[in-house]
Amino acid sequence: MRTYLVTGGAGFIGSNYIHYMFRKYNNEIRIINVDVLTYAGNLENLKDVEKRDNYTFIKADVCDKDAIAKIFEENDIDRVVHFAAESHVDRSIKDPEAFVRTNVLGTFVMLNCAKNAWMLEDGTFKEGKKFLHVSTDEVYGSLEDDGSYFYETTPYDPHSPYSASKASSDMLVRAYIDTYKFPANITNCSNNYGPYQFPEKLIPLVINNALQGKSLPVYGDGKNVRDWLYVDDHAKGIDMVHENGRLGETYNIGGHNEKQNIEIIHIILDTLLEMLPENDPRRAHISRDLITYVEDRKGHDVRYAIAPDKIKAEVGWYPETMFEEGIKKTIKWFFENEDWMKRVTSGDYQAYYEEMYK
Ligand code: NAD
Ligand code: TYD
Repeated sequence: MRTYLVTGGAGFIGSNYIHYMFRKYNNEIRIINVDVLTYAGNLENLKDVEKRDNYTFIKADVCDKDAIAKIFEENDIDRVVHFAAESHVDRSIKDPEAFVRTNVLGTFVMLNCAKNAWMLEDGTFKEGKKFLHVSTDEVYGSLEDDGSYFYETTPYDPHSPYSASKASSDMLVRAYIDTYKFPANITNCSNNYGPYQFPEKLIPLVINNALQGKSLPVYGDGKNVRDWLYVDDHAKGIDMVHENGRLGETYNIGGHNEKQNIEIIHIILDTLLEMLPENDPRRAHISRDLITYVEDRKGHDVRYAIAPDKIKAEVGWYPETMFEEGIKKTIKWFFENEDWMKRVTSGDYQAYYEEMYK
């Protein structure tokens, strides 16, 4: 049975990936989820899988080389999927240190422990071992509103402390590939949305605030463009790259869903009104009047857009979920999981670990 070591599995994309993998492979795989549970890590995201015999949670910091080395010693890990990171641009502007530590040092520790566990005496690697580093399109910098795209060959030009730390981590992965022929891939994906996303990011923040009649903060003129990818499509892309990607290669994963932030907010407001029952009292306060233009983010990248041509041609992946469908699924999930949102916004979710894993 193949064993996956997933880092950051209690976060937004990691938990969706774990659900995707168990839906797809059921008992054919084993997953070890390593997460230190920062404010963004929520084990409640995984309560559907925590009783499975083929799932294990280990609370550990990816920067802790002894703890990570021990996990490799005690388990025959076949695949690593490295999600663990500090992921929010606004936080990186306020407090970059945690980003450099986790994203750069943490990636180094993961790479080095995997290399030590997988390398044979002759310098080659054990058969079938693979490391996948999950990164972002933000490493490529910012595009103008001119129809251009990020490709795997686009030079790196990160602007925020977040994207600079992710770019550094990608460079370390590339260095391991080039120097040691380390069996790895990098995926750089666009903005994800979907269930379990922490409400500091644009889409869950707008859904949550609108339902409560709170203002919707729009940075700058609201015309910055992001390329939105439904999180399940991303999970599928990661698995397909792991299965069919050429080792050592980078693959961009994008949604072909470019939208201005203000368009996103309008779509969410319209979809909420379409989906809420006629007699729901929250309808009364959902309107465009909630939109509040606020000071722009420092160094705010204008536009991100990925042409996912390489992953389509080589791996056969393409984004299946159009935004109109994905946003309905996401809003439906938030309607059905109001308690999740309440616990996340009140901080109560952090008590879940104490309760479950004491
Ligand atoms: P997230 O912030 O929701 O989750 C991050 C997870 O990592 C949390 O569970 C947290 O507890 C864990 N973590 C943080 N520091 C850790 C440490 N030192 N040791 C162990 N665990 C630690 O992030 P996300 O949105 O799920 O993003 C996952 C990955 O995907 C990140 O590498 C991010 O850079 C990348 N990415 C995200 C997006 C996006 O739109 N969310 C887009 C492109 C790439
Ligand atoms: P975000 O979800 O933080 O993702 P990223 O910065 O990684 O792209 O932000 C998406 C876009 O929405 C970005 O252009 C910043 C903007 N934004 C707002 O206008 N208001 C908000 O409250 C937030 C969180 C983001």
